[in-house]
Order: sequence, then C-alpha cells, then structure tokens
Amino acid sequence: MNTPSLRKRKKLVLNSDDNEYYSSGSDFQIDSPPTKKSTKRKSSTKRLSKVSKIIKDKKNKIVKSKRNSKKSLTSEEVIKVALDRLHSTSVPDSLPCRESQFEDIYSFVEQKLLDGEGGCMYISGVPGTGKTTTMYEVKRKLEQCKELPPFQFVEINGVRLGDPKQFYPQLLLEITGQKRSISQSLNSLNSRFNDQDSKKKFIVLLVDELDFLRTKTQNLLYNIFDWPTKKNSKLIVLAIANTMDLPERFMLKFSSRIAFTRLSFQPYNFKELEQIIRSRILEFTNIDIFHPDALQLICRKVAALSGDARRVLDICRRSVEIAIEDERFQVTMDDVNKSLQEIYNSIVVQRIRYASVQEQIFLRSLIQNFRMSGMEEARFLDVYTSHVELCRFEGHYVPTTTELAKVVTNLDLSKIVLFQKSPSHLYRRISLNITPDDIQFALNLSDEN
Ligand SMILES: Nc1ncnc2c1ncn2[C@@H]1O[C@H](COP(=O)(O)OP(=O)(O)OP(=O)(O)O)[C@@H](O)[C@H]1O
Ligand SMILES: [Mg+2]
Repeated sequence: MNTPSLRKRKKLVLNSDDNEYYSSGSDFQIDSPPTKKSTKRKSSTKRLSKVSKIIKDKKNKIVKSKRNSKKSLTSEEVIKVALDRLHSTSVPDSLPCRESQFEDIYSFVEQKLLDGEGGCMYISGVPGTGKTTTMYEVKRKLEQCKELPPFQFVEINGVRLGDPKQFYPQLLLEITGQKRSISQSLNSLNSRFNDQDSKKKFIVLLVDELDFLRTKTQNLLYNIFDWPTKKNSKLIVLAIANTMDLPERFMLKFSSRIAFTRLSFQPYNFKELEQIIRSRILEFTNIDIFHPDALQLICRKVAALSGDARRVLDICRRSVEIAIEDERFQVTMDDVNKSLQEIYNSIVVQRIRYASVQEQIFLRSLIQNFRMSGMEEARFLDVYTSHVELCRFEGHYVPTTTELAKVVTNLDLSKIVLFQKSPSHLYRRISLNITPDDIQFALNLSDEN
C-alpha cells in the first residue's frame, strides 16, 4: 500500500492490502447510506435471488485467483465477487484515470496544512466521474499520513441535509458536538473561523453536492468560500458540485472576489471506462467474465452518452446477470445488447423515440441546458430561449411560451419530465424523471429511424 509521502508519491493504489476481499462482499460496502442517485439505480433483489439459485444449481468449476494463487474460487464465488464489485456502492481497489486529480487534491490539502493556512478547492464534474470516490481516497490517505499537523475531517452532503440552512447547525455539531439553532450556530462558526487562537485544530471540510446548498440570499455558499480566507481560519474546504460555474454565479452578488483553486473532472472516455471495469473485476480472476467485444460495446455506448462510470457499472452488472440466467459464465455481445435494451428501451424510451418534433426539440434543449449549467433542474424560460434558438436554426415552427408549456405538460403526463406548479409558467422549474442518458439514447434511436 502506497501512502503518499510528503513530497514523493507513487501510483495510486487503494485498499488492496487493507481489505480481505475474499471473505465477504459486504467488506466493500461504503459505510454511508446510498445517496438518492444510487438508490434510484439499484437492481431488483428478486432478479438477484434467481441468479444466485442458478449459480448454486450449476456444477462448481474451480478457478484460480490471479492475486492470491493459494486461494482458489469456485465459479459461483467468482460471479458473486464480480457482481459485488460491479455494484456502485462497492469501494474499488484502485482509481484508474483519476491519479492526477487525486494528486492535485491531496497536494492542495497537504500544502495548506504544512503552511498553516486555510484554503478552498472547488471540484466540479458531471455525475459518475469519480469525484466523491476520489475524495474519500484523499481522506483515507491524509488520515494515514503521520507527518501532517493534526486535523479533523468533517463531511457534509448537501442532498442529505434536506434544508440548506441546516448546514450551520450540522457543521457546528460535527466540530464541537454542540447542538445549537441556525443563528447561534452561524455566530459560533463565524467566531471560530475569525478568532486568532493558534491552538485550534485544522478542519478539513468536505462539502459534497454543493449545488443543493443554494439559498435565496446565497449567503451560505458565500460563507463556505469566505471562511477559509480569514487569517488563521484553519479551515480547508473541499467543495464538490456538478455545476461548473457555481462560484461565479453566486459571487456576482458579492462585491469581494474570493480566491479558490478549481479542479474539474471530465466525463470518462470509452478507454477509461474499460480500464475502470478491468481494474474492478477482470484483474481478479483468470476467467474473463466479459468477452472483450462485449465490454467494449458497453463502454463505447456509455462514453457516447454521458461518460458516467456508475451507468457502466449498472450495465455490466445486468449483463453478468443475464449471462448467468442462461447458465454461462462469460458475457457475450448478445447479453450486452439485451441489457442495453432492458435498461434503455423502457416504455418511456419508446415514448420519446416516437415523440412529436416539438417534444424532441424541447428535450434536446433541456439536456443542453443541464449540460451548460451542470444542474439537473432548469427554469422554463431558460429552456424556452434555447428551444426557440434550436427551432430557428433547424427551420422548425417557433412555438409561443403557452404552446411550449402545453408540450412540457404532455411530457410531464408521460412521466418523462417533472414540471413544477407555479402561478407563472415562465418560472416553473423542470427536471427529468428519467436519466439524461435515457433521453439521449432514445433521441439517437429516433435519428436512426
Ligand atoms: N476511476 C474510477 N475507478 C473505479 N471506479 C470508479 C472510478 N470513477 C468512478 N468510479 C465508480 O463509479 C461510481 C460513481 O463514482 P462517484 O460517486 O465518485 O461519482 P461522482 O462524480 O461523485 O458522481 P455524482 O456527481 O453523481 O455524485 C462509484 O461506484 C465509483 O466507485
Ligand atoms: Mg458524488
């Protein structure tokens, strides 16, 4: 296990020695409860029990593990291991393709701790690009390093808070163990980060899902970025968000500019996705669970749609299940095609595939809007503007806002989007009820028609 030394760090390898992998799949479960996103994508337990039964019924074939030649696994165990490791809540052994981001974040915190300074790093990227996983690895390695000044690691997740204002009481509770009201907590935190007490401990604060901490006044986001800049704050903030330009947006309201370091996580390309899957399972056994073409098909498909590693894991997992249902231990192209059909060709996908021209243009505008903002929610008026541009560019009829609102209502009735109620349709908020991947997939299919 390589613990990054202060100046010399080697290739990033996670957990490989600390985890007794073969003992049980549950060793790989993340402590924290799954987020809304991962819960949404859980595969059915019914299906899994059917799969386990098929594995048990099948004659156990002995295969050897590459990593530990003394231990051998039955084919039942190999498949169980593969299914566990393909679950998005299982912690990977290594983080291929994220070595430089790991280095950047680790060095940033290390340098601040050694210099005795506060600071803020803003980390952005679309879903499934490994931001949270990389951060947990940084945390683990920092806590292992004995040469660094003592610090307390605190994590707050914007989605789990419910109400953004609960951020202050939650942070104070984590730091001091004290339960206080919102305003009392804010006062205490302001005092803590402004006082000159040289004995106070460093706080490394991870704020995940920062997008969900937007408030009307934007004061909360401002404070999160401003506190670390105070002299002797001893606060290092690592803020993760999907939106690229969140700081610029809320800072428009404030006259002072705040210094922070920026890091962005790009969507994975197909080669990277393939490497991620290989590192998660294929290096583990000497049977190739995936036919190389089959794995390539999954990775190419997802890279073209989103570059989301979580989605690749879901498709790989389902493909393995399909192969086992057919009493085979290798995933073929056919299995992958079936799983892609299942995952993407739901009734809703078919509905989009045959949607009206205006509905399809609207969905394209909505996705474009999400990509630009990094958010998964948009205001009707903003999407209307992009919709009009697209109609003009492609020579289609340009609808009025009332006409387009009817189109969106239809999509809402078909459960493709969620169109929030509001007195004025111009300000109604729209989010997707299915993943952008599904929309993109369906729209690509209708192009092929
Ligand atoms: N480089 C990688 N190597 C191995 N697994 C990875 C890698 N990147 C992502 N994953 C896996 O993909 C899944 C999604 O990763 P993660 O939760 O870190 O994404 P994220 O960028 O935080 O997404 P979100 O914005 O939705 O929170 C996790 O199961 C994670 O283990
Ligand atoms: Mg995350």
